[in-house]
Amino acid sequence: MSLRYIHTEINESVALVRIERHEVLNALNLHLMNELVGELARLDADDSVRCMVVTGGPKAFAAGADILEMADATVVEMKQRNQFQVWDRLRQVRKPVIAAVNGFALGGGCELAMACDMIVAGEDAKFGQPEVKLGVMPGAGGTQRLTRLIGKNRALEMLLTGRPISADDALNMGLVNRVVPAETCVQEALSLAYEIAKQAPIAVQMIKEAANKALDVDLQTGMELERNAFYLLFATEDRSEGMKAFLDKRKPVFRGR
Ligand code: HXC
Repeated sequence: MSLRYIHTEINESVALVRIERHEVLNALNLHLMNELVGELARLDADDSVRCMVVTGGPKAFAAGADILEMADATVVEMKQRNQFQVWDRLRQVRKPVIAAVNGFALGGGCELAMACDMIVAGEDAKFGQPEVKLGVMPGAGGTQRLTRLIGKNRALEMLLTGRPISADDALNMGLVNRVVPAETCVQEALSLAYEIAKQAPIAVQMIKEAANKALDVDLQTGMELERNAFYLLFATEDRSEGMKAFLDKRKPVFRGR
């Protein structure tokens, strides 16, 4: 099925998903978000895919929710739109998703990058939550994920001034995994994805789930969840293969079973 704003290429178990609404700096309208999350859900269910990279264009990863679409909306219309449902679906994706960010990642664009599991940033990337300047606030996790990632005081400075930060500052604060030359950003994110795609897929998904839980639950609950997932992996063929390959001094072949 051909999508209007989303273009996907799959290579060696890695899907590269591009957001293409460049004329408005990839402003995230409802149609685009539905397409994007629908595509990620489809790839999540596709056994030939093990890891995904989401990227935008050279000038913008995404400059936020589409302001034009919200400008005249009433409270009732906003509630009826239920636009955050699609963001909840994004959280259900079980395979790792890496954001490759060049240019602006503002408002919903920054929230989208943070909703991914890792962020590779081009050196020209700018991250910010400028909603306060529009008289609103983040609605897709900006106050929650940013605070968890960089701490309350630094998050509040960004949230209350709306001022964006540079890629280097984002790296120093722990918002992004690495900063690379802008032109290599997508390639670097893909290299990381290929490395992850070589690992045992069920272990990868369980590790993602457990790490995400670490942000939600107390330590003891998290430790128990981790331990049970660890035991569960002993039921997989990939666990036998991984350990046998080590003892045989050869590379494992993981099949996701
Ligand atoms: C709709 C947008 C847009 C947006 C840019 N455009 N961002 N349209 N919604 N979020 C459009 C512009 O209107 C313009 O269209 C074209 O993209 C190019 O943008 P310019 O402003 O001309 O480019 P530039 O001068 O380089 O400035 C870039 C920018 C600026 C700094 C990123 O565009 C900007 O401040 N954008 C808004 C950022 C923002 O406030 N985001 C938060 C949105 S609220 P025309 O037709 O004039 O060429 C939000 C809430 C999230 O995200 C809630 C949960 C989803």
